[in-house]
Amino acid sequence: MNIVVLAGGYSDERDVSLSSGSMIANALIKKNHRVLLVDPYVGLKNIANFEEGFKRYEQKAYSYQVPIQAPDLEKIKAEQNNQEELIGPNVLALCQTADVVFPALHGGMGENGQLQALLDIFNISYTGTGFLGSALAMDKKLSKELFLQHQIPTPASFSTDGKEQISFPCVIKPNNSGSSIGVKIVQTEQEFFSALAEAKNYDSEPLIEETITGREFSVGILDGEVLPIIEIQPKTGFYDYANKYQEGAVEESCPADLSKEKTLEMQRLALKVHQVLRLGTYARIDFMMDQAGAIFCIEANTLPGMTPTSLLPQEALAAGISYEDLCEKIVHLALK
Ligand code: DAL
Ligand code: MG
Repeated sequence: MNIVVLAGGYSDERDVSLSSGSMIANALIKKNHRVLLVDPYVGLKNIANFEEGFKRYEQKAYSYQVPIQAPDLEKIKAEQNNQEELIGPNVLALCQTADVVFPALHGGMGENGQLQALLDIFNISYTGTGFLGSALAMDKKLSKELFLQHQIPTPASFSTDGKEQISFPCVIKPNNSGSSIGVKIVQTEQEFFSALAEAKNYDSEPLIEETITGREFSVGILDGEVLPIIEIQPKTGFYDYANKYQEGAVEESCPADLSKEKTLEMQRLALKVHQVLRLGTYARIDFMMDQAGAIFCIEANTLPGMTPTSLLPQEALAAGISYEDLCEKIVHLALK
């Protein structure tokens, strides 16, 4: 098959996306597909279709290492402002002449449904979740409202209008971001206001949530079925950007050491989230469990990381599905 893997973009998760995209492209090349890895923000110059692009830009292997530090937001914003368009020259032509597009973009228009809607308009097949599910899952506040309407427990959230007492510690996060970029756990009112100001750099209305102290889990869904649950234990601090993308920073167990009852409860909730948020053929849903054993859904990810340290590939492996087979299956599901 002729496959365009889209990776990079200019969201704050650009580095993570380049790592996911390189891994996915390599996996699909190993499965004997013809693959072009394309950064939609940059495009490929003077290429009218997939064949031309493949002749000129074909590569046998890709690699990209995520830097330890999250990217500098001001730099990204400046680069965005310098661009006239969000999709570079010829990207649509490449996508239209491929058999399938594999978005490996994280954050921004690659994950929030805009790209998916564009591909729908041009009748281009793509992997994963459609525009509606992408938009719902990307908006954490909207997701949480839907969780509550459907009896899916989620940490309490607070507004900043002063009508309610905010209890500490609490978590402040940008409403529409990923990879824990801009996320802070604050203990005092002073820390609260400085974290809030910082989060507002990312999002005009950050999400403020109660902190759940306990254990952290993630549940992958592939083709409507749950994968084995993974438990994440950072060696220091919380599961932030540096811990997410540094080899060896986190201990993971998959399948997680959970009672049968808790396993079934978390899996049932994951499937409910999948249905309520209109998620597609694969996704990853994140949970916390407090010390009393109560389970809370944190969020759903429609373009889960596929980097060397990412969780979904580990969950698939625990189910006997190799990284290459996982990518191949995701491609086939797009064409079903
Ligand atoms: N946003 C990152 C890539 C994830 O959900 O894995
Ligand atoms: Mg996320």
